[in-house]
Amino acid sequence: MSTKGKRDFRPKIHFTPQKNWNNDPNGLLYLDGTWHLYYQHYPENAFWGPMHWGHAVSKDLLHWEHLPIALYPDEIGCIYSGSLVADKNNTTGFGTHHEKFGEEKKYPLVAMYTSHNMENHLESQSIAYSLDGGLHFEKYYGNPVIKNPGLRDFRDPKVFWNKKKDCWSMVMAAEDRCHIYASKNMKVWEKTGEFGPGVNKVPTVWECTDLFPVETEDGEKWVVLVSMIHPGTQGRANTQYFVGDFDGDTFRCTQPTEEPLWIDFGFDNYAGITYNNYDKPIFFGWGVNPKYANDVPTGEYAGMMTIAREMSLVKTEEGYRLRTVPFGIDALRAGTYPIASGASLLTESFGLKIKGNKGKVILENEVGQYVVIDVAEDSICVDRTHAGERNFSEDFCREEFSVSKTARLAKGDINMEILFDVSYLEVFADGGLEVASAAVYPDVPYRKVRLEGDLQAEMYLLK
Ligand code: FRU
Repeated sequence: MSTKGKRDFRPKIHFTPQKNWNNDPNGLLYLDGTWHLYYQHYPENAFWGPMHWGHAVSKDLLHWEHLPIALYPDEIGCIYSGSLVADKNNTTGFGTHHEKFGEEKKYPLVAMYTSHNMENHLESQSIAYSLDGGLHFEKYYGNPVIKNPGLRDFRDPKVFWNKKKDCWSMVMAAEDRCHIYASKNMKVWEKTGEFGPGVNKVPTVWECTDLFPVETEDGEKWVVLVSMIHPGTQGRANTQYFVGDFDGDTFRCTQPTEEPLWIDFGFDNYAGITYNNYDKPIFFGWGVNPKYANDVPTGEYAGMMTIAREMSLVKTEEGYRLRTVPFGIDALRAGTYPIASGASLLTESFGLKIKGNKGKVILENEVGQYVVIDVAEDSICVDRTHAGERNFSEDFCREEFSVSKTARLAKGDINMEILFDVSYLEVFADGGLEVASAAVYPDVPYRKVRLEGDLQAEMYLLK
């Protein structure tokens, strides 16, 4: 166990691993009232190592029950990111093996993940099935089901049921683009399309792609998510999105933009995907930047997830844009009360609803550390330069990991919600059109909220 870390930075309502390391959310599946969260996990230490799938379940997306490791490395490789589906019609035939798993016959849950060979670093795609609701998995004897086609980066399959073609479809990252595949049984896959070059203005390696439908006033649209480490910067990692159509085979972006669209302009939201088997896109991201994730001063654990976020599309003057808001916190919001500038914080985990046109929200402690959310007429900025401990990583201290600003997509009232949970700040401005996530490590808790300009605040507790 690592001994790094001065104080307990563990958030209250955000997912963290019980011990040791997590990165990407994997296998997000909603099933019979339970939210399953699998995640990239190294169980031996609080830094990245040969990957397993950790597992936790929740009824409310805020409180988690930790379950045994679901997938262990094997002779094909360690277990990189992937997804999970409920195979209700037993298309895979795995359901017919149920007698191995006891009396109760359950349809199979099927995980598709990347097998990463730690020697030659080649990646292929494998499947495994569970007949006990996601606790234990049996790997398919015919793995890998998609061999490496000669690509260096070829990973992170996200499977979904394709209603247009009555089959499974899967989107995955393949070097500087995504590939789309289809299958009747998840064992034999055929490539049906690819997307990226030309439309994507940030050519680099793609990771953790997702493809999902969103209802809009103009009918169904599809969104592609792709996580990438920006070329030309020293590690700024973000998730880009594209809006368009999916014809059942491939994705076409119908509103190309000169400037890339990011789901989050902050520092700490990477490799996120949405839930399968739920009627709205509910998203989790890994709440740490890969650049310094190994160095964070959080002690026995390293890694966390963002708050669950609901995604929708909003028509703006420039086209459809992603709106992202916290999901599953209505009960917490019910206790909201007004506060004045200078109000004392009696808790380390709270939400703020902010109204007004211009000004700053500052969270500060008595040792002179503070984090600033600065709202201007046409931009919004998060500054964590003085937020707390940062010498654990040279990268964390750099300007591009300290201050981040984006243009506002709306005018007037900022209509902003801020979640602060011990060491993690999330900002949802203009009703969720501009979102920022930032890890901060104050030496002692922030004890005061200061408001500048004409901003007004209401507060509620996160617990
Ligand atoms: C993204 C990522 C994925 C990969 C996994 C390995 O953070 O690099 O592309 O599957 O992490 O842990």
